[in-house]
Amino acid sequence: MDKTDSLKHIAIIMDGNGRWAKERDLPRSEGHSAGARRVIDIMESMRKHGISYVTLYAFSTENWKRSQEEVSFLMDLLAQFLDENQQKLKENKIRLLVTGRMEELPEFCVERLNKVIQSTSEDYQYTLILALNYGGRQEITDAVRKIGNKIKAGEIDPDSISEQTVADHLYLPGIPDPDLMIRTSGEERISNFLLWQLSYAEFYFTDIYWPDFDDAELDKAINTYYKRNRRFGGRP
Ligand code: FPP
Repeated sequence: MDKTDSLKHIAIIMDGNGRWAKERDLPRSEGHSAGARRVIDIMESMRKHGISYVTLYAFSTENWKRSQEEVSFLMDLLAQFLDENQQKLKENKIRLLVTGRMEELPEFCVERLNKVIQSTSEDYQYTLILALNYGGRQEITDAVRKIGNKIKAGEIDPDSISEQTVADHLYLPGIPDPDLMIRTSGEERISNFLLWQLSYAEFYFTDIYWPDFDDAELDKAINTYYKRNRRFGGRP
C-alpha cells in the first residue's frame, strides 16, 4: 500500500431501512429509526479506523416523492438526531457539514443544522457530512450557474475554466473526493450521489440492510478496499 491508497473518505448510500422493517413486520419508520442508530455507530467507527471524512446520503432530492408522512418522519428524526448528538460530535472532535440544498429543508431542521455546524466548526479531527436534499446533477447544475454568473460579472474568463474551477464551485469545495463508496441492501446503483466526486472511488456493494451494517460489516468493506489495486487510469 502506498500513500495514495490510504482511506481518507468513505461515502455511504444507507439503503434498506424499509425492507429491514418489513422483514420484521414493523412500520417503515422503525427501519429509519434503526438506521439513525447506525449513524451514531459510524461516528464511533470513524475514530476507530482513523477515517477523516464520512459522507452519508440521508435524504436525496428524489426522496420528496415519498409519502408526506414518511418525509415528515425523516425530518423529525434528523432534528432529534441533531439534538441528541450535538454534544457527542463535539466530544469526539467531529465537525458536521451538509451537502445539498439545505435551505429548502424545513426551518426547524435548518436551524438545528446551522447550530450544530457552527458549534462543531472548531477543534475537530473528523468530518461527518450529511447529504440532505442532495442530488449530484443538481450540484453540478448549481455549480454551472455559479460559474455562469461569475462569467457575466467578468470574474471568470470562460477560456480559463478547468476541472478545478468546477470542483471549486461544488457545494463543499476543498473536501477530498471519497476513496470508497458503500451501498447497502443489494442495490448496485449510485442514484445521483456525488456524481463528480466518485469518479475514481472504489465501489463496495453489500446485501446487508443499513440497520444491520455494523462495525464488522464496515471492517469487511475497508478490507476489500485495501485489497484492491487502485490505478487512477495510469499507475501500473
Ligand atoms: C433508504 O432506505 C434510506 C433513506 C431514504 C433515509 C436514510 C435515513 C436514515 C438512515 C436515518 C436518518 C438519518 C439521520 C442522519 C438521522 P429505504 O427507505 O429506501 O429502504 P427500502 O429501499 O428498503 O425501502
